[in-house]
Amino acid sequence: MGEQPVSTAAGAPASGRVAVVGSANLDVVVDVPRHPRGGETILGGDLRRSPGGKGANQAVAAARAGGADTVLVGALGPDDGAEVLLRSLTGAGVRTDGVRRVAAATGTALITVSPDGENAIVVAPGANARVVVDEPARELVAAADVVLAQLEVPLDVVVAAARARRPGVPFVLNAAPSRELPAPVWQDVDVLVVNEHEAADLAGPDGATQPERAPSELARLLLARVPAVVVTLGGDGALVARRGHDDVRVPGVRVDVVDTTGAGDTFCGVLAAELARGADLAEAARVATVAGALAVTRHGAQDAVPGRAEVLTRRSRVPG
Ligand code: RIB
Repeated sequence: MGEQPVSTAAGAPASGRVAVVGSANLDVVVDVPRHPRGGETILGGDLRRSPGGKGANQAVAAARAGGADTVLVGALGPDDGAEVLLRSLTGAGVRTDGVRRVAAATGTALITVSPDGENAIVVAPGANARVVVDEPARELVAAADVVLAQLEVPLDVVVAAARARRPGVPFVLNAAPSRELPAPVWQDVDVLVVNEHEAADLAGPDGATQPERAPSELARLLLARVPAVVVTLGGDGALVARRGHDDVRVPGVRVDVVDTTGAGDTFCGVLAAELARGADLAEAARVATVAGALAVTRHGAQDAVPGRAEVLTRRSRVPG
């Protein structure tokens, strides 16, 4: 298809460096027969506590499933939730020298998971609201071959992360959870990763009034603002759209779904890792789709991230 790699910094190593700037949460999870309606109480299963947060999940995915040299810029509190997260991050090989300890509770996510694996999540940001891109963090970001951020930290942090990267280094934004983006955020994005709902939200009135619009139409609307868009489609794979190129449809990988929590994060972390080693965006999305599919076959967010060997073995069996 003649696609060129998303521009990576000259001399990007075979196993590239990824800087993730974002949130870390302790996930407090209950399996439920169905998600409760407003005002309703339902009984669920046993409580599980596990490492999560979109930033930390993506960092673990970039390191473990993507094989990248990965650093997280984030913030944790003085509590035992922070210890759960640090164990998970270091266990996956993520460098935590960019993680500040602050006087606020570690971010916490309250999650219910229904029998079909779908989740509903409420996040109490806590320490994530105190993430900063200070001078030491800027140096970590400036050393990366790809910079990846999400929207569970303040928007000025997202802008500062993008601006701390070296010239030519791609800034990948996973616009989750969905929120309105001011112009300075749009300006710096090289690759926007969104699911269909986020794509419709961000595509503005044209997208929002027609949420049933095809992903390729939503992507075209978003390409007016950013040079490349990846729309994740759950079990149906992903769509890669770039200005001046035909869209590439990445097929889904059939698996038994146990828990979808963090699958999108696994996708984003692996996408960034693949870009950091110089893959083109379509191939990066193919590997990321495989990794995201493997992640939904297990419980949890970081706990469900597959190893690199498993991802590559499964990728080799997927055509394209
Ligand atoms: O994307 C999944 C993540 O969203 C969970 O781990 C939870 O912490 C929230 O940030």
